[in-house]
Amino acid sequence: MDLNLAGRHALVCGASEGIGRAAAIELALLGADVTVLARRAAVLEDVVAALPRVAEGQRHGTLVQDVADTAALDAGVRAALADHPVHILVNNTGGPPGGRALDAGADDYLAAFQRHVLANQTLAQAVVSGMRQARWGRIINVVSTSVKEPIANLGVSNTIRGAVASWAKTLSKELGADGITVNNVLPGYTRTQRLEQILRDRVEATGKDEAAIGAAMLASVPAGRFAEAHEVAAAIAFLATPAAGYVNGVSLAVDGGRMQSL
Ligand SMILES: NC(=O)c1ccc[n+]([C@@H]2O[C@H](COP(=O)([O-])OP(=O)(O)OC[C@H]3O[C@@H](n4cnc5c(N)ncnc54)[C@H](OP(=O)(O)O)[C@@H]3O)[C@@H](O)[C@H]2O)c1
Repeated sequence: MDLNLAGRHALVCGASEGIGRAAAIELALLGADVTVLARRAAVLEDVVAALPRVAEGQRHGTLVQDVADTAALDAGVRAALADHPVHILVNNTGGPPGGRALDAGADDYLAAFQRHVLANQTLAQAVVSGMRQARWGRIINVVSTSVKEPIANLGVSNTIRGAVASWAKTLSKELGADGITVNNVLPGYTRTQRLEQILRDRVEATGKDEAAIGAAMLASVPAGRFAEAHEVAAAIAFLATPAAGYVNGVSLAVDGGRMQSL
């Protein structure tokens, strides 16, 4: 099986921590040059310093951007990566705040649309010419199992994840003939600061202790444990490899078997 990414360049967003950082590590381990993107410059420098270098001439870099600023994101990515075309784009950023769908305001929905759909679209447009030139590309979106099964009290997130999944499926049909695949990874409960925040929110909302909340969440997970970020990252990295070249337009859940749907 060909898992070699030497000579390929990956742009990994939301890579200062959590699933994004873990994806950067896995992609670097397969030989890719990796550019990590997020808002915190100092944290990104630490991430890059720790990234594996396994291939000759492999080079990593940082790109400090706020994906909520569409115009700056477009200009920044195009300028920074003009001489280093991207072959693998991992679209990923922090999830929208929790709450009921009906209670969210127009600004909440617009902010989530900007950070997820518009950011993904802007990044894809900025890098697709390099992929087309190489006749090889991978666009991988980190979304959520809520694409298939909406999660209670994550109204804005559920809505926007569905939009990202529809955008990705459409793009997979538009770009397939160029040797570019577009796929989604749907993490289940994964040990990152996002999960810690969700646990804290539920403790606050219910008055129950964290162990009880965690146990209730795990009751729905056949694996009986939360995922580690590297387990989700492994699926992202696989979709980036030559071996996954005929996998296109899918939403791959990495959830320990939690989802009910087929
Ligand atoms: N963890 C889970 O259990 C779980 C389950 C299902 C879905 N997901 C989804 O999977 C994605 C990744 O999750 P995670 O747990 O790894 O999240 P995380 O630990 O909160 O990390 C989010 C990353 O995104 C970056 N980021 C946030 N806002 C940004 C912005 N405006 N511009 C640029 N970068 C930004 C953060 O870096 P900076 O702060 O440095 O910018 C950080 O590197 C999220 O969409 C999350 O909702 C997670």
